[in-house]
Amino acid sequence: MDKTEETIATPNFIGLLLEVEQDALAAIASGEKPVDQLRIELLGGKSELAKLTKQIRLVPPVDRAQVGTVLNQVKEKIKDALVKNQKTSVNTGKSAEEIDVTAPGILPPVGHLHIVTQGINEITRIFERIGFTRVRHPEVDWDWYAFESLNMPPNHPARDEWETFFIDFPGSPSKDHKKKRIVLIPHTSNGQVREMEKGKLPIRMINIAKCYRRQSDVSHVPMFHQFEGLYVDKNVSIAHLKGVLDYFVKQFFGPQRQARIRPFHFQFTEPSFEVDITCGVCLGKGCKLCKEGWLELGGAGMVHPVVLKNGGIDPDAYTGFAFGWGVERTAMMKSNTQLDDIRLLYSNDVRFLEQF
Ligand code: DAH
Repeated sequence: MDKTEETIATPNFIGLLLEVEQDALAAIASGEKPVDQLRIELLGGKSELAKLTKQIRLVPPVDRAQVGTVLNQVKEKIKDALVKNQKTSVNTGKSAEEIDVTAPGILPPVGHLHIVTQGINEITRIFERIGFTRVRHPEVDWDWYAFESLNMPPNHPARDEWETFFIDFPGSPSKDHKKKRIVLIPHTSNGQVREMEKGKLPIRMINIAKCYRRQSDVSHVPMFHQFEGLYVDKNVSIAHLKGVLDYFVKQFFGPQRQARIRPFHFQFTEPSFEVDITCGVCLGKGCKLCKEGWLELGGAGMVHPVVLKNGGIDPDAYTGFAFGWGVERTAMMKSNTQLDDIRLLYSNDVRFLEQF
C-alpha cells in the first residue's frame, strides 16, 4: 500500500457502499432518467461504485473479503432494480416520466345485483318491518308438503297446473305416508305445513325460494322464484290479509298504487283470492298495457282448515292467511318494463341486465 494514501476504516467503507446503494435505488425508482443512462451512471467505469471498488485496497487487509462481499451485494441489488424497472417500462410502452397523471383513468366495470336478487332483498326487508321472518324450506321436497298436505291428494286434477318435476329415488318405498314421492318444489307453498310443524305459534313467515316447473316459453322459465307469506294466530281475518297486501303494494310499488282481492279458487285456501294492483302506467284508468286498469299479481287466501290440521294446528282455535307469487313478475312490474321474453332474465347478457 502506498504510504501516502490514507486508510479507510471498515465501518466507514461499508457506510459509503450503503449510501451508494440507497442513492442508486432512489434514482431508479424515481424514473426520472432512462434505464440505459442509469446503468452507465450507476455501474459504469466512472460510477461511484467503480470508484469504491478501486479503493477497497484502503481497507485493512483482514476486512477486505467482507467488504468485497458487501460490494457485490450492492452491485447485484442495483442490477436487479434496473432490470425490474426496464420490464415495467416495456410493459407500458412508456417510461415513467411519460405518464400523464392528469389524463382520465379507465374505470373498471362495476356490476350490481341481479334484478331478481334486488327483488328478493327488498321483499324481505318490507315484510321484516311488520314482523315477518324470512325462512327457508327444502327446494327438493316430499310430495306431501308440495301437494298432499295442501289438500291436493294424489291424482287430484288441481295438481295439473303445477307441471311438476318428479325425482326418482333409489331404495324401497318408505312406510311413512309423508315420504312417498320427491319433487322439485313447484311453488313455495310447501313451506306452509313445514313451518307449522315447527310447533311455534303465532307464525309470521316469509318463505322465498327457487321453484321448478316443466315449462319454457316467452313467459315461463323452468326455474323461477316465489315468495310465500303465512300468518297464523288467533282471530286472523281477511281484513288482516287485505291490510298486509295493501302495505306491501304501497311499500314495493309506491304510495299511489292500490291493491284489490278478487274471488278465485285454490285447494289450500278458503276463501281464495287473486291479488291485483293498479297499473303503473295509467294508475287504474285503463290503458294499452293493462286494458282495464288492473294487473294480476298472485294468489292469496285464508288457510284451509285441512292444511292447518295437517300442520298440527287446531282450526277451531286458530286461523291464518297465506299468499304467494312470483318474484320475477313482481320485480318486472315494479320497473314498468314489459319483457318480450322472460328467459332474458337468465341468459346472462349484461347489456340486458345492467338496465335494472
Ligand atoms: N302456490 C300458488 C301458486 O303457485 C300461489 C298461492 C296461492 C300461494 C294462494 C298461496 C295462496 O299462499 O294462499 O300458484
